[in-house]
Amino acid sequence: MPGIKYFPYNLNVENKRIVVRVDLNVPLKDKKIQDSTRIEQVIPFLQDLVRRKAKIILISHLGRPKGMRNNALSLLPIYKYLKKKLSTNMYFYTGEINDELNTKSSFLKESEILLIENIRFFKEETENDEKFSKKLGELGEIYVNNAFSCSHRKQSSIHNITKFVKEIYAGPLLEKEITAIDSVIKNKKDPVTCIIGGSKVSTKIGVISSLIKSTNNIIIVGALANNFLAYKTNEIGKSLKEDNSEDIVKKILEEAKARVCKIIIPEDCLVSKSFEGEAISKNIMSIDKDDIILDIGPKTVSIIEKIIDNSNTVMWNGPAGYFENKRFALGTNAIAQRVSRNTKSKSLISVLGGGDTVSAINNSGLELSFTHLSTAGGAFLEYLEGKDLPGLSVLK
Ligand code: 3PG
Ligand code: MG
Repeated sequence: MPGIKYFPYNLNVENKRIVVRVDLNVPLKDKKIQDSTRIEQVIPFLQDLVRRKAKIILISHLGRPKGMRNNALSLLPIYKYLKKKLSTNMYFYTGEINDELNTKSSFLKESEILLIENIRFFKEETENDEKFSKKLGELGEIYVNNAFSCSHRKQSSIHNITKFVKEIYAGPLLEKEITAIDSVIKNKKDPVTCIIGGSKVSTKIGVISSLIKSTNNIIIVGALANNFLAYKTNEIGKSLKEDNSEDIVKKILEEAKARVCKIIIPEDCLVSKSFEGEAISKNIMSIDKDDIILDIGPKTVSIIEKIIDNSNTVMWNGPAGYFENKRFALGTNAIAQRVSRNTKSKSLISVLGGGDTVSAINNSGLELSFTHLSTAGGAFLEYLEGKDLPGLSVLK
């Protein structure tokens, strides 16, 4: 992306306080890390800064605690993980964003790291509050945004903070992600297929309507598909669905028709009576009132595989089912295998993004390869859409 100031690899950071925004928003279950990809990806830059004797202040969010302290969303497990991996003194700050924090950060010695507790415990973070951003900015002489995956958020530690630090840069991980996605956008070849799934329905539905303009096929899977199925008056039982999604689905289908972009939705699925239950394969017409749709079915898998075979570019965000229960990971794994196989054998260009998608791929136990695997989900889609991401414009 033109105009972005990247962190110069030879910048002298010795003895300087450097605030780094990272994305440590990893899936947790009972405070146990389910997938460490995002953490692993931030480690090399931190190691580099440690070696170069910077004093490092780390900021991240975890989940969506809505401005309130929430023990289940504490960064503590992630702090412990990082501390083990990084051979330096590392501290965890759980207090307020105030002078005490500033004093603590100024007492850091060379190569030491201070991780601030989940920044979204403070409502000012998501409000992009000026005073709060100033306090964060005053923690360092240099600010680095190394969280491409959060750069679509207009929030203090991503956006307004940049007003209050003299030297601001995009970090190497952010640079790597943007360079890879830019190259895919530049080199992409028709037919282009987008596979969109997952559960963050409201955030994705807008993106789809814009992808219609540049894509030949849009395959809708995961909980997202339930909105389309319900719109077509299918019974979806107790499956996850967003309220009042009918108008937007209607608009998407109309736009797709006008632009000759094919929208593919599941024809069969795997259902269960509970998330932990057994999988039953059903045609989409025969869902019962107490069924929950948790994966796409075998017929839909083979339809999708054929479309992948006929594509030259595939972009994918969001799993096809509730992969956390391996009975419902079949659709996600089948798509992953076909995309990977064609990337290797037929030079398919493939980009995948999103915390859950990456986690599903890593938990599949399969040997897979793609043109680019992005840590970003929402940011990745908005970037593909050609949107000006608030976190990136401030780095120019
Ligand atoms: C993500 O998981 O997509 C990023 O960490 C951003 O999280 P958010 O969607 O809660 O802002
Ligand atoms: Mg996410």
